[in-house]
Amino acid sequence: MGLGEVLVTRKIPEAGLELIRASCAVRLWEEDRPMPKERLLELASGVEGIVCLLSDPMGAEVMAAAGDGLKVIATMAVGYDNIDLAEAGRRGIVVGNTPGVLTEATADLTWALILSLGRRIIPGDRLVRSGQWTGWGPTQLVGADFAGQTIGIVGLGRIGRAVGRRARGFGMEVIYHNRRRLPESEEAEIGARHAGMEELIAKSDFISLHCPLNPESFHLIGAEHLARMKPSAYLINVARGPVVDEAALVEALRAGRIAGAALDVYEHEPRLTPGLMELDNVVLAPHLGSASVETRNRMAMMTAQNLLAGLKGELPPWCVNPEARHS
Ligand code: GLV
Repeated sequence: MGLGEVLVTRKIPEAGLELIRASCAVRLWEEDRPMPKERLLELASGVEGIVCLLSDPMGAEVMAAAGDGLKVIATMAVGYDNIDLAEAGRRGIVVGNTPGVLTEATADLTWALILSLGRRIIPGDRLVRSGQWTGWGPTQLVGADFAGQTIGIVGLGRIGRAVGRRARGFGMEVIYHNRRRLPESEEAEIGARHAGMEELIAKSDFISLHCPLNPESFHLIGAEHLARMKPSAYLINVARGPVVDEAALVEALRAGRIAGAALDVYEHEPRLTPGLMELDNVVLAPHLGSASVETRNRMAMMTAQNLLAGLKGELPPWCVNPEARHS
């Protein structure tokens, strides 16, 4: 068809798929699980565009399997750590993502985790369902306060800011750590104070991770930082699993060195680090950050628009490597 043949590695919301189908011949992986690698390499062969998910590794092997005709990779995600940008650049492949549209949904999910972790909703739900609940108790499942507490946001980008705004609504003090400090006027507008990583770790009652995964942020939170957190503090990860050394986290939780953790992403996603599942002081969500109907529909549309632009030889409207087009 008009714009050539493309691979879509998983069913995405219909609106996006329709837009792609209107002008491309689509090879679609119909199963509701990530494509096995061999199948991915097979189906990628000869395509001009790929729509992938964050769970599909897009490295040199896939790009080579597609061949020299591959023009564009459009991921239905804001994070693109699964895509080898250096290789894409060498091959002149433009890469598109879906920034902005999932900011509020992801901040909402972060707060759903913070609240259910701090106020022990999950053990409470288990207690009620067990039939063992004997009624209101003065010391039963008591948890954390939020007003007056400090939240430390690691990575004050779009999502970090939206989490910070919500924290102000809860009456919390907001500190943040970024590689580059924001201008003071922006800090004042957000109501957040910049802190060194050491200060953030030591002072925060809740630490929420919102940085991208890259070599600098890999295992950013490991045994050393966990040992310096307050014993009453909580860790929340909705960024990418490998930002946290999960074996060290399990150790810290087991030993009661921190109060608890809530995870939406995992170091070896979707596998769990041994020991995590047995712990009571954790909330484990299945990577739901952007999972609202409207957000996912809009992500699918942006992904389709990125794909189609790349196939036409144009810059995708949301492109992470515009320089690739000219190389
Ligand atoms: C979700 O994790 C995303 O990167 O969109």
